[in-house]
Amino acid sequence: MTPITQPSNGTPVTGQPLIGQPVDRTDGHAKVTGRALYAAENALPRLVHAVLVTSTIASGKIATIDTARAEKMRGVLLVMTHRNAPQLPKKGQAGAGDMPAGRVLNLLQDDAVHYNNQPVALVVADSLEHAQDAARAVRIAYTSSHAALDFAKAKSVLVKPEKVQGSTADSERGDHAGAWRAATARVDALYTTPVEHHNPMEPHATVASWDGEHLTLYDSTQYVSGVRNTVAKTFGILPDNVRVICPFVGGGFGCKGSTWSHVVLAAMAARKTGHPVKLVLERPQMFGIVGHRPRTEQHMQLGAAGAGRMTAVRHDVIASTSFQEDWIEPSAILTRMLYDSDSQHTSHRLARLHHGTPTFMRAPGEASGSFALECAIDELAYAAKMDPIALRLQNYAEKEPEKGLPWSSKSLRRCYETGAARFGWAKRNPEPRSMRNGHLLVGWGMATASYPANRQAANASATILPDGTAVVRSGSQDLGTGTYTVMTQIAANALGLPMEKVRFELGDSSQPKAPVSGGSQTVASVGPAVHAAATAARDKLIATAIADPQSQLHGVPAEDIGCELGWLFRQSVPARREPMAAVIARNGGRAIEARSESKPGDEKKQFSMHSFGAVFTEVEIDPDLGMIRVPRIVAAYGVGKLMNKKTGHSQLMGGIVWGLGMALMEKTEMDLYNGRAVNGNLAEYHVPVNADIGDIDITVVDETDPHINALGAKGIGEIGITGVAAAIGNAVYHATGRRVRDLPITLDKLI
Ligand code: MOS
Repeated sequence: MTPITQPSNGTPVTGQPLIGQPVDRTDGHAKVTGRALYAAENALPRLVHAVLVTSTIASGKIATIDTARAEKMRGVLLVMTHRNAPQLPKKGQAGAGDMPAGRVLNLLQDDAVHYNNQPVALVVADSLEHAQDAARAVRIAYTSSHAALDFAKAKSVLVKPEKVQGSTADSERGDHAGAWRAATARVDALYTTPVEHHNPMEPHATVASWDGEHLTLYDSTQYVSGVRNTVAKTFGILPDNVRVICPFVGGGFGCKGSTWSHVVLAAMAARKTGHPVKLVLERPQMFGIVGHRPRTEQHMQLGAAGAGRMTAVRHDVIASTSFQEDWIEPSAILTRMLYDSDSQHTSHRLARLHHGTPTFMRAPGEASGSFALECAIDELAYAAKMDPIALRLQNYAEKEPEKGLPWSSKSLRRCYETGAARFGWAKRNPEPRSMRNGHLLVGWGMATASYPANRQAANASATILPDGTAVVRSGSQDLGTGTYTVMTQIAANALGLPMEKVRFELGDSSQPKAPVSGGSQTVASVGPAVHAAATAARDKLIATAIADPQSQLHGVPAEDIGCELGWLFRQSVPARREPMAAVIARNGGRAIEARSESKPGDEKKQFSMHSFGAVFTEVEIDPDLGMIRVPRIVAAYGVGKLMNKKTGHSQLMGGIVWGLGMALMEKTEMDLYNGRAVNGNLAEYHVPVNADIGDIDITVVDETDPHINALGAKGIGEIGITGVAAAIGNAVYHATGRRVRDLPITLDKLI
């Protein structure tokens, strides 16, 4: 355990001694010893196993489905198809339509096929092997109809989405056309990003168990109460009759933010067989039914006048979606707020393909959008013959440019300075192909990172037990990010207890409701609720002591009472003290409990809230073979108050590694004839491994944000990926003189 700073006995608790400390993960031991139970590991009595059968065409109908052989196979309990599946209210779509948690699901309600890899049958057997065997024996014939699979052709019919992240699809400020004509330096370029799939280590998994009218789901999810509500509505039952349990998640990144078809299918099969049913998606099934980052085509026009003043900014986005939902990757949202230009025009349009529906994927919008915007800025810097940082500073937004609101906090200038200094940017020769390391071409590139600081209402409870420990609960999730650890720090800090005396529990829809662990908002939303509940429980305990004639603290004014390491004490006379447990023991031994709800006020109307950062990368490229290595990445961020230096650093580093994958490796090849992911497995869908990663140097600059919440914390889950692909793309240009505007940047595009 990393030593943590605790106040010595007798000193009043001032400030927040535990907050920010690089505390080890409180769930680390359970994870490395295998005691942490993930969804698929819940071995309930009488558990049976389900395997999905998925479509092999992209569009059409099931003509015939022959289940006779499969049904007779050893151990098979059920082969569920659209012919015998329970009919759900309104075909199951009644409950799934509310965005962002609700999706259009495929629940075996009819014979229609909307994409390749769509669920068309579910086989349930007494063992996984029997279920897999029988799943292969289901014979299906399809009637194919024309499938839209070619993005270039699909673009001929563009759909304007109704809303883009609570805002309009298009935005317009100033006279773009006039400013563009008058500009003295211009960039007009098209950037493209491919379909990407999330691929958390733990695949989606659900264990569904009915007890009469009551359904329990052990599900791998970013949103336990979202699953509860969606499943309840889909079945037309009360949310009170559904409980969702998820204490551990092996990675989510957005694909587990929604409730997808397999969760409901597992519950349908459990009801029909009368057994608890386990359904785990096979890795290739992760490429279709549970979302992806859609393909984007982004047209950028940047124009500058004297001294690099950006006068014209235009960003037009076309993103792919399915025929089932108008899902939009909001790539131009970042462009609306990041720089202070005289004019601006942005738009979002959709092109429909017979693919599964896209979804949130780490920094949805900002990740893809920052590639286009931050590469275009680099191109503009070359056109204007300016240093790319100087150009960005020339257009630094002192306030939010769309609404003119002040920032709640912004340390981007310091991020540029800190990052540049740590990287050694001043030694860069801006001339392309001017720097070498032996035979290798060396390139240095940089970009801005940014992500909104989100917050939603959250609830928590805190209970001080007679044994002097406390249990604190909130129905949140820990995706591997450190929620358990940070919430324990916040609660222990407020309760005046050592961390090991506080147990924080999450991941159960019967706990006080918390929002989806998405949008980098968990610490900013749940943290204040935990702080408030713990503070309220402590205050109740203090009030009990004051009212108790036998207490050392009887009649002492509440503001003179401190609380630390399990003791209450009089701050003006520290010798007057007693254990918290003693106060409870004298008062009937009843636990002291408090609940709280914490939600944002109207500060979002007064301030614009975002995190910012700057990313610097070095690439080395073999001039003959085009092979790209990234020996080092330096990044600096302003994210408000960092709650835990260790888990926070890991989060930011994980985001940067994702950015490197996005820049150089990740792409789902969707077959143009049958719409299936050609590389739909971990052997061929490339993500970075340790050998691909060089030095990563991260600095979090000191930043105070008095407006975001009581803790001053902004989110850090997603900002790490933003800007990285652009910084690498810009470094590749600097190394080679070749501007690759199509991700991923692979060696074939350089030779
Ligand atoms: Mo994240 S893509 O908001 O789960």
